[in-house]
Amino acid sequence: MRCRILVLCALICLFVILTEARQRKANRSGSRSLAARYQRSNVRHQTGNRLAVRSRNLKKRGLNSAKKNRRRRNLARKNRRQRNLAKRETKAKSSSSSGSSFASLPLDFEQNFVRTTDNLRSERVFLAARYGFSFAKTSGSTILKNTANMEYTCKLNIGTPKQKFRVLPDTGSSNLWVTGPHCKSEACRKHERYYPKKSSTFVKNGTKFAIQYGDGALSGVLAEDIVRIAGLAAPNQTFAISTKEPGDTFEAANFDGILGMGFRSIAVDNVQPLVQNMCAQKVITSCKFAICMKGGGSSSRGGALFFGNTSTKAYSGSNSYTYTPVTKKGYWQFNLQNIYVGDTKVSGSVQAIVDSGTSLITAPTAIYNKINKILGCTETSSGECYMKCSTEVKEFKFGIAGKEFVIPGKKMMVKVKTSKGKTICISAVQKVQGEPVILGDAFIRHFCTIFDLANSRIGFAATTYST
Ligand SMILES: *[C@@H]1O[C@H](CO)[C@@H](O)[C@H](O)[C@H]1NC(C)=O
Ligand SMILES: *[C@@H]1O[C@H](CO)[C@@H](O)[C@H](O)[C@H]1NC(C)=O
Ligand SMILES: *[C@@H]1O[C@H](CO)[C@@H](O)[C@H](O)[C@H]1NC(C)=O
Ligand SMILES: *[C@@H]1O[C@H](CO)[C@@H](O)[C@H](O)[C@H]1NC(C)=O
Repeated sequence: MRCRILVLCALICLFVILTEARQRKANRSGSRSLAARYQRSNVRHQTGNRLAVRSRNLKKRGLNSAKKNRRRRNLARKNRRQRNLAKRETKAKSSSSSGSSFASLPLDFEQNFVRTTDNLRSERVFLAARYGFSFAKTSGSTILKNTANMEYTCKLNIGTPKQKFRVLPDTGSSNLWVTGPHCKSEACRKHERYYPKKSSTFVKNGTKFAIQYGDGALSGVLAEDIVRIAGLAAPNQTFAISTKEPGDTFEAANFDGILGMGFRSIAVDNVQPLVQNMCAQKVITSCKFAICMKGGGSSSRGGALFFGNTSTKAYSGSNSYTYTPVTKKGYWQFNLQNIYVGDTKVSGSVQAIVDSGTSLITAPTAIYNKINKILGCTETSSGECYMKCSTEVKEFKFGIAGKEFVIPGKKMMVKVKTSKGKTICISAVQKVQGEPVILGDAFIRHFCTIFDLANSRIGFAATTYST
């Protein structure tokens, strides 16, 4: 009799446990689809809230498996031991694959899914996954490639899927352009082209575009698409795709386009430049960029271009920045207080621009002549000044915001190859008719430069690596 009652009790117990287990299972699978929906967007965020949710789940799962075990063995007395075992199992599981703890989320999580900064960030992460870029990042840097100390270029890509380009970051212009699909110029045939039809995010604009360079005009049409650089993405960026490129300037170029980084006031067609668009769309929260160039000739690691966060320590070392206000927003123009060659002052206060798209330094005729006199070089018809490669050149000192920025003399002499293959030496200073003084790569190479749009100022830091 007693035995029968025991068996009956056991059967009832079994029934209750089974029903409960099934219900739990149903509840769990119900919440799993929700979990799956939020999992992607939450996986990167381990806020206190999320950790709490996670540990609650762990506890539930522990109970679950305890009950399954109880049913299987059908021995109530062993219950405690089994539970302990289950707990240990769960612990082992959670330590081996912590990701699995995201498989379930309590339903009440949905009710709490209000718009907090955290889930706004989650949405951004989701968008990032969809468009293949990082919204979570608000700064980034990209490596510069140095070609013979004459050209510094970096990678950039456009569209969905990505079309890859190499561009020249140019603080002396303000438009982004890349080679277009229908351009028949020799220069275009040698470079990567942007194909609007291959990009699902391309938006037609069609406005005509023409920009003047040294020895010819480049023409094209405007287009709009997502532009990505340094792990950051600027949606809805307007840029030009070339239809005709002047031969001499771009045929030998090892870049497919130019990334203008000047102010909008000098942008052709009043197109918003890339960095300004990044600032407006809060892709970068600190509205500035920096350029650090390395010397030493051709190198795939010729420095870096920074966006949003100008922590240039790897390049500028412990040198602090000296800032000077932008005097005219167009180029990155400022007041250069003086120039000395050795102990001789060759220039007083003069307007100057920092131009990463120029290789050397240019000076108006009067300053140029004074410098050449000290160097003892011979001017040529093309506005360069030749000298013997053994010439001892005095150091150059540039006065900016009360500080002296010194470039060693030997760095102000540039070795170049003639078309006949002969190596000759010229002064790093070339002649142009008037102001401003253009400080190109030959200057920037020595001082990491911050282009601070938010505060309309330029900062220079002495570099510590060998130039
Ligand atoms: C399953 O969910 C229902 C409501 O959706 C709830 O009443 C029930 O207690 C849950 N069961 C378990 C075992 O959690
Ligand atoms: C901006 O870009 C997104 C993604 O490419 C696109 O869906 C949207 O239509 C664009 N907006 C405008 C105003 O062009
Ligand atoms: C083309 O881009 C320019 C510059 O951003 C803008 O002013 C113009 O409205 C655009 N045109 C069209 C048709 O989208
Ligand atoms: C910039 O980057 C540095 C180092 O990567 C970091 O310590 C600093 O907090 C960042 N600043 C901002 C404003 O993001």
